[in-house]
This record gives sequence, C-alpha cells and structure tokens, in this order.
Amino acid sequence: MHHKLRARELTRTFGETHALGPVDLQLTPGEFVCVVGPSGCGKSTLLRIAAGLTRPSTGTLEISTSSPRPAAMIFQDYGIYDWKTVLANVRFGLDIQKVPRREANTRARDWLARMGLADFADAYPSALSGGMRQRVAIARALAVEPEILLMDEPFAALDAQLRTILQDELLALTQTTRTTTLFITHSLEEAIVLGDRVLVMSARPGRVIAERRPPFARPRTGDIRSTPEFTALKGELWDLLRGEVHQEQHTAAVPA
Ligand SMILES: Nc1ncnc2c1ncn2[C@@H]1O[C@H](COP(=O)(O)OP(=O)(O)OP(=O)(O)O)[C@@H](O)[C@H]1O
Ligand SMILES: [Mg+2]
Repeated sequence: MHHKLRARELTRTFGETHALGPVDLQLTPGEFVCVVGPSGCGKSTLLRIAAGLTRPSTGTLEISTSSPRPAAMIFQDYGIYDWKTVLANVRFGLDIQKVPRREANTRARDWLARMGLADFADAYPSALSGGMRQRVAIARALAVEPEILLMDEPFAALDAQLRTILQDELLALTQTTRTTTLFITHSLEEAIVLGDRVLVMSARPGRVIAERRPPFARPRTGDIRSTPEFTALKGELWDLLRGEVHQEQHTAAVPA
C-alpha cells in the first residue's frame, strides 16, 4: 500500500524530557486518523514532526504528495498573524503558492464565507473572538486545498454548538475531497465522529497503545452521535485513556 504519510520509530526528546515515542504511524490516501491522549504526551510534537516544523530525535518520516500542494497545519494556538487582515491571513498559503492575487482573493473570501466570517475580511485578528480566530486558521489551512491536513485541536476553543457544526462541516468536506488528515483532539466524540481510525496515546513519552475503527460506513453524518455503537465506543476509548490520564496527573504531582 502506498502511504501519504509514514512515520517509523519516531522519538523526540527536549533536553531531559523524553516527549514522544517511539511511534509508528501510516496514513493511506484519503484516510482520516484521529489521535487522542493525555495532556503533555507529545501529540503536538508528533504533528509538528509530521509538518516538518520539528525534527525527530530518532526515526524517519516520509510524506508523499503528488503535486506541489503542501501539507497544511492548523496550530493548537492558531498561529495567525495579528498584523495581517483576516483576508490576508486566509490568503497567506495561496500567496506562498504564487496563486494570482485575484484568484487568491476569491478563494480566500469563499472560505471566509463558509466559516461565517464574510463580514470580517478586512478586520484584524485582534478584533475577533477566540472562536473566530480559530475559524480564520481553519479557513487558511483549507484554502490551499492541501493533500495532507494536519490539525492540532482545531475546535478546542469553540463553544459546543459551533464545535458540533464545524465537526459536521469538516466531516462533509473531507468525505468530498478525501483529504488525508491527521487530527489531534481531546474529545473522544470528535475523534469517533470524524475518524476512520482513532489512535490512543499513552502518557509521556507518548506511544500508540490502542487503535479503534469507528463502525460507521462512509459517507456518514453527525447523526451517528446518537447511536448505541457510538456510546459504546466512547466508553471503551475512555476506559483506555483513563489510566493514562491518571498516570499523567500522578507524574505531574511528583516534585521534580
Ligand atoms: N520546544 C519545546 N521545548 C521543550 N520542551 C518541549 C517543547 N515542545 C514540547 N515540549 C515538551 O514535550 C512534551 C510534549 O509536549 P506536546 O506539546 O507535544 O504535548 P501535547 O500532547 O500536545 O499536550 P497538550 O494535550 O497539552 O496540547 C511536554 O512535556 C512539553 O513540555
Ligand atoms: Mg498539544
């Protein structure tokens, strides 16, 4: 099988801290893989390695894209530029790709409209709420139509209703575009709704300790949230995660 992304035996240490791994991970074309794990277990580190922003200490990462289209990353802390307008932020990746200005503006405005931000194109991010800033970051990443989408808790700062709406929108979108996606989240529900696979990571150093395939055929919709299978899988994932979260709290409580 030809993989879009293949990580082998990835580890990362920061000074004395063994933050991650070893982790093996493969994404097949069009696959949507969700990663859950306790805070500090190395999820963002894993995503930054996948994006080429952080080097692994050991191990290898292969990304295979068929066109110059880049992998796009949505940061946990937004990563948007306060000195650029909302429109310029969304256009940013298109400018880098040297998309002609007129087309870039059209595509950026289109994504802003889909994110409910059409009226804020000329505003600066400092004038936006946290949830709106996060939607700008999402629009920016999706506007480049990436072959691989790397998302680090993109909906964490949103209120529950908006979060559900954007989950459903991302579900519909990725089922249409078949964009290969690696998605980090703290929300088990989100992971089950969106994922072809859900990977559970251990406490730091994060390793993949379990994998589940939500038993819902594609294309699917958010309606699966109310099925017994959904509730059962959520319970099962929580049982897997609970021990790791406790371990993390225990480690954190021990004075250094
Ligand atoms: N640039 C860095 N320098 C030093 N330590 C770092 C750096 N980046 C991450 N770490 C450490 O690596 C570990 C994993 O961090 P990471 O941000 O990957 O965790 P996470 O799973 O994303 O956590 P959260 O769920 O809270 O976002 C943590 O102990 C963190 O302090
Ligand atoms: Mg993180």
